Amino acid sequence: MLIAHSIPELRHLLRHAQRPAFVPTMGNLHDGHLALLAKARELGDVSVASIFVNRLQFLPHEDFDSYPRTQADDEAKLRAAGCDVLFAPRETDLYPEPQTFKVVPDAALADLLEGEFRPGFFTGVCTVVMKLFSAVFAGKPEGVAVFGKKDYQQLMVIRRMVQQFVLPIDIVAADTSRAEDGLALSSRNRYLSADERAQALQLAQALRALGTQALAAGHSPAGTPASALAELESAALAQLSAQGWQPDYLTVRRRSDLLAPQPGDGDGAGSLVVLGAARLGSTRLIDNLEI
Ligand code: PAF
Repeated sequence: MLIAHSIPELRHLLRHAQRPAFVPTMGNLHDGHLALLAKARELGDVSVASIFVNRLQFLPHEDFDSYPRTQADDEAKLRAAGCDVLFAPRETDLYPEPQTFKVVPDAALADLLEGEFRPGFFTGVCTVVMKLFSAVFAGKPEGVAVFGKKDYQQLMVIRRMVQQFVLPIDIVAADTSRAEDGLALSSRNRYLSADERAQALQLAQALRALGTQALAAGHSPAGTPASALAELESAALAQLSAQGWQPDYLTVRRRSDLLAPQPGDGDGAGSLVVLGAARLGSTRLIDNLEI
């Protein structure tokens, strides 16, 4: 595996690549990231992973400083997984001056759910991803980038960005990787105490229960009156709170635009997703389930 720290180094290493396949990460790699890389390796002629903890997507009170940085471990995992090129820029390589130009995503998609609870998050994500895309793909006829469905809204925002800026990059979605008990793999899982880890599956269970109830609510969720769906969502929030969580949202949305299903949407089967975000102790976890 070759390693580049600066954009010129990276472009030099990729000079012969025709279709780079890219996995952007913030490091602290787990099997979920490695599954993205495995997919990338099938889809391009050179596989590229990046590790960069992007300050722009953290709010001042969030965990930028304490975000786990495990570079040596990550490099070993990527090497063992057959990654061709690692891009691991320092902050000054990616942001040599304050990043005053930003990519601001469509508020209709980016200001709800995660965007409501983490204002500016998707502007930070889009800005760094655009910059990483420019570093990896500039001058290439085509490319592919793989994103996990665990960050469902992020995947949708990036897809729209690529579509609207007409970037010649295929955005490929990979299913969420889960631990044996079903907990979605996340770098933030390492913040959980043993007790919290044992409890952490309750978020996925709450999503599954909400999805099942919504589908069983007399007719499909898309045909369920908004008030009935809102009642199910409130009950799910209350139950998770009673289990000791501080939930931000648990909600059934359309996969197409992440808005609430509308009565005219048809039967809704296969077109909805249940999304949730909640804090257990000081750890904020997100998960989702397509229904
Ligand atoms: O999903 C992540 O790890 C980050 O949001 C990303 C896409 C690497 C941008 O910093």
